Amino acid sequence: MMLKHTFKKGRTDRTLLLLHGTGGNEFDLLPLAEIVDKDANILGVRGNVLENGMPRFFRRLAEGVFDEKDLIVRTKELYTFIQEAAELYHFDAKKVVAIGYSNGANIAASLLFHYDQAVEAAILHHPMVPLRNKVVPIQHTRVFIAAGKNDPMCPPEEAEDLASMLEQAGADVTLYWEQNGHQLTRTEVEAAKDWL
Ligand code: MLT
Repeated sequence: MMLKHTFKKGRTDRTLLLLHGTGGNEFDLLPLAEIVDKDANILGVRGNVLENGMPRFFRRLAEGVFDEKDLIVRTKELYTFIQEAAELYHFDAKKVVAIGYSNGANIAASLLFHYDQAVEAAILHHPMVPLRNKVVPIQHTRVFIAAGKNDPMCPPEEAEDLASMLEQAGADVTLYWEQNGHQLTRTEVEAAKDWL
């Protein structure tokens, strides 16, 4: 199923998959893509769940409490969408780097939890553990996690747990800390760029 999106052809075979936070859209993270890799293709996606009119990538029952059934369905939808978009726009589905913030980071983490090679690498800004008690299939994927020591929405333990679950599965994880809260900062985006 095609999701609402924007695509911009780049000059390399890398594609940045942009996944916004709650209430965002497919254009929100374009400035990040410009910083992280201005030569890559860009695929910005809009989540197709609405919460009081705000787009999200999956439903939640309360703040920080996910509708796990919906999360699984939406994760599959996003995975299929990446494959379809790769065909449509002629990019290499094996060279996709996901960049997600908050709700977008959570669906990106869920991609890692469900598919071995959905993405080549992932940059997760302020993520949580998408699902507990799940065997994580990824192996060598590179993952950069940026988290805030004072983030009330995505507490530090969530980032730490996520990092260790991914590491145990064999991923190569870098955990980067800001002293801030939930906001996405210029410095963490620069750190993600250097890491990539
Ligand atoms: C979520 O629902 O994915 C997290 O609580 C973060 C957010 O509000 O986007």
